[in-house]
Amino acid sequence: MSKSSNSLRTVSIIGTGVYLPEETVTNRDLEKIVDTSDEWIYSRTGMRERRIARADQATSDLAAAAAQAALADAGIGVEEVDLLIVSTLSPDMFFPSTACFVQAKIGAKNAYCYDLGAACSGSLYAIETAKNQIACGAVNTALVIGAEKMSTFINWKDRNTCVLFGDGAGAVVLRATGEKRGIMKGVFGSDGSLAHQLWTPGGGSRNPMTHEMLDQNLQYLKMEGREVYKHAVTQMTQSVLDALAANGLSADDIKCFIPHQANARIIDAIGKRLDVQDRMFLNVEKYANTSAAALPIAIDEAVKSGQVAKGDLMLLVAFGGGFTWGANIVEWTK
Ligand code: UT7
Repeated sequence: MSKSSNSLRTVSIIGTGVYLPEETVTNRDLEKIVDTSDEWIYSRTGMRERRIARADQATSDLAAAAAQAALADAGIGVEEVDLLIVSTLSPDMFFPSTACFVQAKIGAKNAYCYDLGAACSGSLYAIETAKNQIACGAVNTALVIGAEKMSTFINWKDRNTCVLFGDGAGAVVLRATGEKRGIMKGVFGSDGSLAHQLWTPGGGSRNPMTHEMLDQNLQYLKMEGREVYKHAVTQMTQSVLDALAANGLSADDIKCFIPHQANARIIDAIGKRLDVQDRMFLNVEKYANTSAAALPIAIDEAVKSGQVAKGDLMLLVAFGGGFTWGANIVEWTK
């Protein structure tokens, strides 16, 4: 550890919360929309159902509800939040940031707010960013939210993608606690040369919003599934090993591995490679892939279901569009 980092404060997660839309869409429901089957979806992905937000709900509505649940869990007032980050690839609008909409909704008037874009790895990146700002004393309390209304950005006529995603939001509250370890050293990486394998090509400055662009369905998420799958397994496995090495730990020290929830087969493959299958957290069956929301939702469920208790270490690992990836280790201190 460098000399300067000796004076950094230890940062912990002091509260978690989720919001999941009420409407559940099952694989059987999808059979009525596209040429697919419950058998195909479950055997290829481990997904059974996903939540879909109402037409009158935007991403910030999901995010605000998760944020309020996390603040209540932390037992702190909204005015104590100094920093509010929303990670999303399905923002309310291009600008202003979804974080500013959330701020207004929940009354976090003392926070400065911005969005962080790293696709499915976004919440992990946002936790790292917030942690570092708290650690160096720039802020005291941060609210990190991963929220997605994926249903707006997928083509409901494309069976390759529409069966894979769901809507939802998860939030964590971070604060300097003086605990021994808290959120430990993270490892992160990106490879922009592979951006085209998982992206939404239309609507930005590259392919502005035009009738032609819309006719080509460029406003929807596109994915080269098989390629993404291979990179996800490789990078997440390596990230786990790198995070363990960076903190001088072994896999035996980890109570629960919490991976991004994109596909049960990906999670299974990582578990097998590391020989930790019995400790891999899995909830993709219920929510499908909620992108940046998946990790904070999983943290909340792992903790509240008792799979992680005070003093346990959990290892968070993610992979997403960009490509982006990373992992960190969190001592649960609550
Ligand atoms: O969250 C960020 C990271 N995202 C991921 O990590 C996702 C990574 N990729 C995956 O999870 C998997 O690649 C998928 C679940 C997307 C696809 O599974 P796969 O085993 O790689 O299937 P495939 O793409 O190789 O497709 C196999 C077949 C194709 O038919 P042909 O060409 O072999 O005749 C597809 O057309 O399955 C067909 N197919 C479907 N069939 C029924 C694709 N989607 C469907 C569907 N229902 N929904």
